[in-house]
Amino acid sequence: MRRETWLLAAVLVFAMAVKREDFKTCDQATFCKRHRSISENTGYAVDFSTVQHSGAILTATLKGPENELSLKLTGLDGGRVRLQIDEPAGALRKRFIPEFALSGVQYEVPFDKVDVQSDYLTIHCGGSKAKVVIHQKPFLVDIYNGLNELVTQVNAAGKLKVEHFRAKMDGQEYPEGFWDESFKHFRDSKPFGSSSVGVDVSFVGFRHAFGLPSHADAFSLRSTVNNGEPYRLFNLDVFEYELDNTMALYAHVPYIIAHKKQRSVGFLWLNAAETWVDTRSSEDSKGMFRTMLNKVMADESQPRFDAHFMAEAGLIDLFFFVGPSSQDVQKQMAETSGVTPIPPLFAIAYHQCRWNYNDEQDVAQVNAGFDEWDIPMDVIWLDIEHTDGKKYFTWHPTKFATPKKMIEGVASKGRKMVTIIDPHIKRDDSYRVNKDAKDLGLFVKKADGTTDFEGHCWPGSSEYLDFFHPKTREYWAQQFAFDRYEGSTRDLHTWNDMNEPSVFSGPEVTMDRDAIHYGGIEHREVHNMYGMMYTSATYKGLVERTAGKDRPFLLSRAGFIGTQRTAAIWTGDNTAEWGHLRYSVPMLLQLSVAGIPFVGADVGGFFGNPDEQLLLRWYQAGAYQPFFRAHAHIDTRRREPWLFSDETREGIRDAIRQRYTLLPYWYTLFQEHNATGMPPMRPIFYEFPSDEALFTEDKAHMVGEALLVRAVVDKDATSVEVTLPSGENKDTLWYDWESGVERPAGLNHVDAPLQKIPVFQRGGTIVPTWQRIRRAASLMKEDPLTLIIALDKNGAAKGRIYLDDMETFDYKNLNNFCISEFSYATNSPKEAKITGKHADSNGAFKPVNWVERIEVRGVPSEPSKVISSRGLTLPFAYDRDARLLSIRKPGDFAGEDWTITLNF
Ligand code: NOJ
Repeated sequence: MRRETWLLAAVLVFAMAVKREDFKTCDQATFCKRHRSISENTGYAVDFSTVQHSGAILTATLKGPENELSLKLTGLDGGRVRLQIDEPAGALRKRFIPEFALSGVQYEVPFDKVDVQSDYLTIHCGGSKAKVVIHQKPFLVDIYNGLNELVTQVNAAGKLKVEHFRAKMDGQEYPEGFWDESFKHFRDSKPFGSSSVGVDVSFVGFRHAFGLPSHADAFSLRSTVNNGEPYRLFNLDVFEYELDNTMALYAHVPYIIAHKKQRSVGFLWLNAAETWVDTRSSEDSKGMFRTMLNKVMADESQPRFDAHFMAEAGLIDLFFFVGPSSQDVQKQMAETSGVTPIPPLFAIAYHQCRWNYNDEQDVAQVNAGFDEWDIPMDVIWLDIEHTDGKKYFTWHPTKFATPKKMIEGVASKGRKMVTIIDPHIKRDDSYRVNKDAKDLGLFVKKADGTTDFEGHCWPGSSEYLDFFHPKTREYWAQQFAFDRYEGSTRDLHTWNDMNEPSVFSGPEVTMDRDAIHYGGIEHREVHNMYGMMYTSATYKGLVERTAGKDRPFLLSRAGFIGTQRTAAIWTGDNTAEWGHLRYSVPMLLQLSVAGIPFVGADVGGFFGNPDEQLLLRWYQAGAYQPFFRAHAHIDTRRREPWLFSDETREGIRDAIRQRYTLLPYWYTLFQEHNATGMPPMRPIFYEFPSDEALFTEDKAHMVGEALLVRAVVDKDATSVEVTLPSGENKDTLWYDWESGVERPAGLNHVDAPLQKIPVFQRGGTIVPTWQRIRRAASLMKEDPLTLIIALDKNGAAKGRIYLDDMETFDYKNLNNFCISEFSYATNSPKEAKITGKHADSNGAFKPVNWVERIEVRGVPSEPSKVISSRGLTLPFAYDRDARLLSIRKPGDFAGEDWTITLNF
């Protein structure tokens, strides 16, 4: 490239990029700089004379050159261990523990045995699910899984550091930024001094690790040590975020899962303060930095993935999930942080949003447009302009003068609406919410602890509700009552945006770290969970407005450990560019593995105007991602599907219809998540834990165990490469999802013309579908089912369906649900049987969905006869070339026991 051309390119890239200078680097966050520069073991040792244990708890004192710390180990159920390192009793200030992020009671399991040797302790955790070895000097913790394999180490590189609370002494020298820190023109008063914490955690035997959402980066975590910035976890409103970097975004879960052949291990850093994580895979460092690691560390030739966690405040509070499988790890994480309640059906269908639909007439036209063009759609969204002056819970007096009527119009078609409700409250005495909150003292306070914190956001000058105050949560929840939120109905659901919180006038576009929450907590201690506290109060209100009957839908932009219990989240303000479509896949995988399964990205890209090809490809990818919503910035051109060419409109329609076809499968996957923690959208290694070449794959992903989706994310692609895993025994069969034709395992070059979504069904699975596509999902609830059966090499398959009323909590409160299991078994060359079996006798729900068709893929020969349970001969068609069998009108109900016999 000529020099001038290069310079021009550099200027252009710069012009398009995020304003990096608005956000801190590790060097500019003085605590991060201090922790990152540790180059020698910080010198802690366990004082063995202080070790005490009883039941599931062991405590001891750690002694180091800088201070003494207290250590507490807790054995939890299900292969989980918790390790906390705090200042000893009598510290100047209590450190904040974000217990609210956890899913409630963490069940303890007493240790089986504790062995004390001269320089190490061995703790056999209850039920032999894990073992912990604590080395005395230097302090090191080894964690073993239930197979007695060393999987995780703490402090192997000796980076443990806790900046203890202290009184400021005149004349004493302190590290840079210890008592007072400035960034740009913002000053952080730090009245309690620096209280940062850090330690290194290593995954022994693992080259690859994943998680630490949300970053616009690859799924497999990169090495950041000596190679750019650590991953930053600090919820921020980042305008026009860039790809391929570790800058913080809107939602963060300090969680890592590492995987190697047949083994996974998980780790959670329970801390709500700003956190940075420096990472390194031995794969990349090729033995560099080994001098740092002490001699008791595992064999040097073993691969390992090292992560150095550094947080501005809080405790060192570590949860270890020992697996051994990724399913086990996911369950262990779910037991710790909770799961997403089964969403109402409309929530997993297609959502139509833009900033903004202008008025009630516009809404009615969009609603009608989808019918006119025969495109299914379930939810119409209203962004901030629907309010009266950005005062949430109000309606624009002329544009949205009859909201109830508008919502009823949409609901009459079986659809729902969503309005946006943000946490900044316009400073205006005539605004009821502001006045109430002021009178009741519910706002976050400035550093002085008494004046209400003020900042700028959409309404101009605003105050911010303090969701750490129980009264605020109560008050906020009440605002969703139908008689308080005028114009709302049970068909109106909620979008919580800007909840990082976004403060346009604040440092890094957020709240001052020295602002004060209920109980004297500093904002810095809880920043990353503010958005989660907010959504949990909103959710409470949405549940209470129907006295616990209806399942609400809530979308949040900020997220933290536990957000999944109340909200779906999306990846914020992406851009209408191919790279952003491409990165939607790894970003949603990061969130999924970290316990937040109901996730999506703005289809079409938020900023800018996608061309037709990009828009269509985005719909196709979105149709196979958990939360499926088109959204666009106010300055973009309108994007309703019928505004494009026939080809694009048809392609979009087809993608949305594919989503609706698969709704019974998605719904069942969300129930599976609710029961086991498994996310519907999952990395390939979750299903194929031995196919090493696919561990880092992030253009393709699984939807449940049955479908592999390869998103088409490259401009002008007419074909894609996709590797279909062959599985542990190298015998997995695959089928093209649409045509049912077999595909070989291994590398496939698949034609991907504009209308095609490359999706493959794994042999051995049964996928329930709806084939009668209607205008909205709620109208399809009782529709008959078509089962798509893909045979494995033994001529067998299995699958399941979960059904309930798809809108209320009766599944939970009244056991009003039904689970059916389906199977196909080849008993002999002459006979095969397809069965449906009511699988959970606790379920009281009687589905009316009957099976109207069964398609079987990979059937080697034509049956002579197909007979139903009731002895009826069923009509069928067989395609010899494609090995496809289609059985018509079996007529059995989903919730009953039935058998179809195939004679050959
Ligand atoms: C920021 C959100 O990320 C975006 O989706 C929304 O449209 C705007 N806020 C306006 O509310």
